[in-house]
Amino acid sequence: MDRMDKRIRRAEEEGCRNHKMESLLLRQFRERFGGKPEAKACAPGRVNLIGEHTDYNDGYVLPIAISRRICAAASKSGTETVTLRSGNLKGEVAFDVGAIKPSGDWGDYPKGIVAKLRERRFPVRGFNACFLSNVPIGAGVSSSAAMEVVVCHLLEKLFGFSIPPEDEAVLCQQAEHEFAGTRCGIMDQFVSILGRADSALFLDCRTLRYEHVPFSLGDCVLVACDSRVERGLATSEYNRRRAECEQGVKILSERFPAVKALRDATVAEVEECSHEMPEEIFRRCRHVVTENARVLETVEAMRENRRERIGELMNLSHDSLRDDYCVSCAQLDLLVDTARSIDGVLGSRLTGAGFGGSTISLVHRSAIDEFQNGITEAYLKAFDTAPRFFECIASDGAERANKT
Ligand code: GLA
Repeated sequence: MDRMDKRIRRAEEEGCRNHKMESLLLRQFRERFGGKPEAKACAPGRVNLIGEHTDYNDGYVLPIAISRRICAAASKSGTETVTLRSGNLKGEVAFDVGAIKPSGDWGDYPKGIVAKLRERRFPVRGFNACFLSNVPIGAGVSSSAAMEVVVCHLLEKLFGFSIPPEDEAVLCQQAEHEFAGTRCGIMDQFVSILGRADSALFLDCRTLRYEHVPFSLGDCVLVACDSRVERGLATSEYNRRRAECEQGVKILSERFPAVKALRDATVAEVEECSHEMPEEIFRRCRHVVTENARVLETVEAMRENRRERIGELMNLSHDSLRDDYCVSCAQLDLLVDTARSIDGVLGSRLTGAGFGGSTISLVHRSAIDEFQNGITEAYLKAFDTAPRFFECIASDGAERANKT
């Protein structure tokens, strides 16, 4: 490991100390491209408190932007060529803005954004950029959305145009559909742009209306625990779930024409149609409908500062994701079960798409050591791997962060 690598590793470990990341980034830029960058931007990862697999069903979500972020710096290249270097990922990416094709590596996220912007006739030409990130990759905290958002902001600044945040989120989502092949919902990109410090983002994914709900945990902490499971089948399984929901809507809407998306259905309606749909589809629908209700209840519990109830709703969400939506796995279940067995843990669930990635737990500050030790021991014993922990602090999204 050379000295730069060591410094990057340290910056990653230090997590949210962004000023340090920025000076490392500038140095990296100078060493690779020379001089000072003309534009800089950053965008955070996210964890979702509750509302999983509801976004692409026109439902509700309640994520927070976290303090881990991707920072980027760029200058125009004066040609049509884009050259990208990451301080965290191997290999440089180079391509021509006039001939963009996915290549199956990290460059697909920036490529997708450049392609989408140019499709909409924004004046994007060649540029040189460096990236530095402390968002853990593959941990289910949306490093991909952070990458899309940071590139979009960077190019807006570099080439002098501006896109309304809601449209930006949609553009980033489309880039992910077309260049990464995941038919994701809007949640990750939206919160990476519009998240706010000390707040959770309550988003209606049908209307894109949102509200920042004060997020104060008092003597509790929200801790993410990365299972470090490789998410090999995540994309195909994710897309399959989405198709299953669409199948459910088709069946439901024959009897209840007002049901245009699972957002519109009630549990009673889903149950009434249970004999007309395969068991599997019934369960997928039941998860989405009950999860939407849990989001609404969590928002109420947050407003009333009822943290025990928030913990219970988190538990119910995980159970539904495990049993009805079938997106958990042995590793995530062990993390959740062990967390719940520890005194001082109010609730625990998988966060994000599932199939690996991270759990989040609401933990009393006084129980943190016991929590980390207990989970590490159980996880090492079962899977011979140590999980990684990090505290989730509700932070500003790119929209605010890039203005200050
Ligand atoms: C991924 C997707 C989101 C959302 C979650 C599950 O993170 O990118 O759009 O569907 O999974 O809630």
